[in-house]
Amino acid sequence: MNRPAASLADYSLTAKIFHWVTAAAFLAQFPIGFTMVQMTSGSLSTFMYSLHKSTGFFLLWLVIVRLAYRLRNPVARRGSKLADWHYRATQAAHYTIYALLILVPLTGWLGASAYASLEIFGGLNLPSIIPANEARGIWLFWTHGLLAFALIVIVAVHVGFAMQGYLDGPEDSVSEAALEQEKPASA
Ligand code: HEM
Ligand code: HEM
Repeated sequence: MNRPAASLADYSLTAKIFHWVTAAAFLAQFPIGFTMVQMTSGSLSTFMYSLHKSTGFFLLWLVIVRLAYRLRNPVARRGSKLADWHYRATQAAHYTIYALLILVPLTGWLGASAYASLEIFGGLNLPSIIPANEARGIWLFWTHGLLAFALIVIVAVHVGFAMQGYLDGPEDSVSEAALEQEKPASA
């Protein structure tokens, strides 16, 4: 069965705001993250680390709320027709992005807890979620960087496909709820 793709025009205003605020905060984390790890300690370095940790912490909760909203709000899809495997690949890519958008900040927060480096702005600290252990902190930061890299690769592919879908333009409108009902009983 062919299934239509979605364009951002098919999403509610709330979903669009979630998408663009998440995208902007996520994209900002890269230049901040890469720059701060190259800096020698000083007030600018402290500021960049604080900005990175607080933006990432905000993003973690934003994505959890966004995912909860998304699971309760099906989208009416009007994009060009996709083969079943293609539709499923798109869904899998989106849920992989969601999973990584949770795992990346979570490993950052775990690493900062293990490294006992939780200070943000105004003398505030993020809550510690695991006991301090420097060796574990190094391993967690390594995982954090690796997952962040995997996420940026998937997001680059996502942006490429999104642009292609945008150029293809809209077709028939089909809701996800209707697509679920069309599935054969064995699916
Ligand atoms: C900057 C250029 C971007 C464009 C043009 C773009 C465009 C789109 C479009 C058209 C969709 C709907 C596609 C569909 O449902 O089949 C979408 C969905 C999505 N985008 Fe993006 N996007 C961009 C950046 C990002 C970034 C940086 C992220 C991650 C932080 C992201 C995460 C997502 C997710 C998770 C979905 C799935 C939404 C859902 O159905 O729940 N996007 N995007
Ligand atoms: C989606 C959110 C996040 C993204 C995309 C992200 C991305 C990155 C990147 C690209 C780096 C540089 C990696 C390297 O070159 O070694 C980095 C480092 C770092 N991140 Fe994040 N990060 C996020 C959230 C967080 C959070 C929530 C925290 C802590 C609460 C955090 C704490 C750190 C720390 C302390 C480093 C430096 C690690 C080191 O010195 O090796 N990050 N992050």
